[in-house]
Amino acid sequence: MFSGIQPTGTSHLGNYLGALRWWVDFQDRYDALYCVVDLHALTIPGDPEELSKATLTTASLLLAAGLDPSRCILFVQSHVHQHAELTWLLECTASMGELNRMTQWKDKAAKGGEESARVGLFAYPVLMAADILLYDTDLVPVGDDQRQHLELTRDLAQRWNTRYGDTFTIPNAVIAPAGGGARIMDLQDPLRKMSKSSGSDAGIIYLLDDPDVIERKVKRAVTDLDPPGPGAVRWDPDEKPGVSNLLEILAALRGGKPEEIAAGYENYGKLKADAADAVIEMLRPLQERYREYAQDPGSVQAILADGASRASDIASRTYERARSAIGLLPR
Ligand code: TRP
Repeated sequence: MFSGIQPTGTSHLGNYLGALRWWVDFQDRYDALYCVVDLHALTIPGDPEELSKATLTTASLLLAAGLDPSRCILFVQSHVHQHAELTWLLECTASMGELNRMTQWKDKAAKGGEESARVGLFAYPVLMAADILLYDTDLVPVGDDQRQHLELTRDLAQRWNTRYGDTFTIPNAVIAPAGGGARIMDLQDPLRKMSKSSGSDAGIIYLLDDPDVIERKVKRAVTDLDPPGPGAVRWDPDEKPGVSNLLEILAALRGGKPEEIAAGYENYGKLKADAADAVIEMLRPLQERYREYAQDPGSVQAILADGASRASDIASRTYERARSAIGLLPR
């Protein structure tokens, strides 16, 4: 299993409930590799100093969330040079047309202007394909927004195998466990997914937010004007998106179905107080562990160095296979 996360350093509750907590689970069920994809971060403008900080913060957060280097391989993408090298070989396998059809490219290029968009942004999905294919990956946990990139990865691997002989394993997307694919919405705009790229901070619970900040954000979450009483709190994402989102959060944290949890409430105040408590309690140990890592960045760097060395054992073998298949002269 392989998955990657961008080094933004500001992961939020949506990232945690939608992805990270499953990564923690998957460690014991699969041979899992998790990668902080710093090279992907270079596809859009950013500050160099911020990038290395965010990379370390993101790795520390993953460890604080429960990734355990004795049960998985955690590493930084740029520490394993084969990611960039295999990307080139795969860029010579992909076509302009298929990359042009990637909806994420079209969205981002439309926003910032295609003329000034970085070539790396266009090639982004090929780098992602290299990440995945280097590890003979069977399974890739990805969100909906990355499905198309995974399809492209499969296409590239199949095309390569047909052209140059069997080299890569064809990966599959992992569907979140039943009922587990929690889709957490923005607290201020519950029709939109919680996401740092679109929401204002008021609608996003960051994993490192202080308890009082979390309480305030949840209390101010947008609901609706239905009067309290039986049936006011019900699971109905279309008619009552704000209330349903709070129920979804409670269900994800306490177990059970949001429909059933709804039955225990008649007013929004109590629902909000309980949702805030559940989030604060869940984050407390994570934040404590994070603070320990933040005080000892050397220990995180040592974990990442060890992860990179274990990852590159695998990546170098796959890469050698690929370079030989495509006809590069043996070294
Ligand atoms: N593109 C992914 C995202 O933005 C991150 C990523 C990079 C990734 N490489 C990957 C995810 C490989 C899964 C597998 O979320």
